[in-house]
Amino acid sequence: MKEAFDIVIFGGGGDLALRKLVPALYRAFRDGQLPAGTRIFTSCRSAEEVAGYHDKAALALQQYLRPEEFSVEVWAEFQTLLQSLLLDISKLDNHWQSLREIMDQEADKTRIFYLSIPPTIFGVCCKHLSEAQLITPKSRLVVEKPLGYNASSAEAINTEIASYFDEKSIYRVDHYLGKETVQNLMALRFTNIIFGQMWDAKYIDHVQISISETVGLEGRSGFYNEAGALRDMVQNHLLQLLCLVAMESPNKMNSKNIQEEKIKVLQALRPMTGDDVAKNTVRGQYVAGSYHGDLLPGYLEELNCSESKTETFVALRVHVDNWRWAQVPFYLRTGKRMKARCAEIIIQFKDVAHRVYEDAAGPLTANRLVIRLQPEESIQLTMMTKNMETMEMELQPATLNLNFSDTYKRFNSDAYKRLILDAAEDNSSLFIHRDEVTSAWQWIDPIIEAWEKTGDTPHLYRAGTWGPDESDQLLASEGRYWFNAGEEKKIES
Ligand code: BG6
Repeated sequence: MKEAFDIVIFGGGGDLALRKLVPALYRAFRDGQLPAGTRIFTSCRSAEEVAGYHDKAALALQQYLRPEEFSVEVWAEFQTLLQSLLLDISKLDNHWQSLREIMDQEADKTRIFYLSIPPTIFGVCCKHLSEAQLITPKSRLVVEKPLGYNASSAEAINTEIASYFDEKSIYRVDHYLGKETVQNLMALRFTNIIFGQMWDAKYIDHVQISISETVGLEGRSGFYNEAGALRDMVQNHLLQLLCLVAMESPNKMNSKNIQEEKIKVLQALRPMTGDDVAKNTVRGQYVAGSYHGDLLPGYLEELNCSESKTETFVALRVHVDNWRWAQVPFYLRTGKRMKARCAEIIIQFKDVAHRVYEDAAGPLTANRLVIRLQPEESIQLTMMTKNMETMEMELQPATLNLNFSDTYKRFNSDAYKRLILDAAEDNSSLFIHRDEVTSAWQWIDPIIEAWEKTGDTPHLYRAGTWGPDESDQLLASEGRYWFNAGEEKKIES
């Protein structure tokens, strides 16, 4: 049995804690994955919040878990592990002392300090953890994005937390890495010889990585309007996915080797400055539209503001300048209020070198590997076959489907559960190294600078669509098209 641990969630009453962290811990408990003796502490800002925390957590579980997952019996047991504590993060008072006393009752346990708070107070929180002598050799710090606003602010945050925790004890979360299919992408690449041999510029025409969301601002207008889609989604999630597609095989599946390979990819990204930015990026912002017949407001209306240049959509053409990926474009795209919620990686292989069938047998479709992370997790490979229902020689694409919920009956993915349990077990292979954060920002910063310098304004797109026309043009100009969550609509170039 794994060792029991203590986890302290700073910002226990916040959105991330209630929406993701407490449900993840509940699932781990229900699935028998929380070692007996594990304790969960959540920091609250007022005595009322402490008093009402269990009710609030129960409500959150009912709201954010699937209906069949919540059970009164499991909750009755789970809540005995959950203790909320009054704590003002900005003030070192005796509440910190109380936390220390409780934790010191089981001083040898692994301690996870999960900072579910704004990065502006990461530093002070770590300082107080240190001054209250809460940091033991078995303590780990877990932090979430946004890790900075650009390379220098990210560096400042990382330097600040490094004064209290060494790099080995810092776990930087990108929740996309906790998704099971993302790990399956690595398994697929590094355990199957067929892909190992074909994973390069010789066989791959291009790669698409697309995360489309149907939601809008979700009450985060202040943060989002400052950040925009490039900082919110590309700097982290999309670049991480790109790294996993593009990296070389690590010598071993451990964090050091994986992180080293990812850093090499980030450093091989072709820098974009000046005119390259205009040629290779498209920014968008949604205006009023509709989704499944419901009218949706535009970004400015949601923001309640008459002007904003923030992009709610971005598409980019990216190159990884190394031998393996020479001349292979990686198209990245993400946006809010799009036509469907979908996160997909498409590996588009090249056409066969020579056609042996008569034209009458029908057109050939090049092989395509589709790794879908959302809404369902699946991997599909499109291949050409003979139509078996006719005696004629008729060629037709067919799909090999690896749908995890069919193959693995107990498959139940929760990225946060996986990441918290990994942190407890000192497995940092799905977390991000400081140098990854820095390299990603160093590539992103010049793009934002170029947009700002040229006064680039986002192209408008109707809510409930696939983004602005210019995004289609980005690919159409090279005879390609977005796959749009399986919609096979080709855009003419
Ligand atoms: C977060 C972004 O990191 O990821 C949000 O800040 C976005 O804007 C979210 O909605 C998407 O995550 P998921 O797992 O729902 O695709």
